[in-house]
Amino acid sequence: MPSVKIIELDREIEILPGQTILQGAMANGIAFGFVCGGNAACGTCLVKIVEGLESLGKRNPKEDFLAKAMMLEPEYRLGCQTEVSDTPLVCSILSLARENSARR
Ligand code: FES
Repeated sequence: MPSVKIIELDREIEILPGQTILQGAMANGIAFGFVCGGNAACGTCLVKIVEGLESLGKRNPKEDFLAKAMMLEPEYRLGCQTEVSDTPLVCSILSLARENSARR
């Protein structure tokens, strides 16, 4: 089962193949922003892939549209649209990173 390490939580979770990072995080009790309900319209679920980017599929058309509008670099992916493969990932969940820096 694919593993995803979330830097802000210093935690590694397992996600079912084909699930999105957001679905997998929620299944593991990790809540992060998804204002538009996972419809690739808000960008609040943004993650930065630190390791394993090459294992991910290309952005789907909905993600690609928002990524272009937000001028995202390739390592930034929408958690609600990015499905994991069998390769472990290391990622930063930007909404959690912002919460952590606000607490400091
Ligand atoms: S939840 Fe809105 S873009 Fe992913």
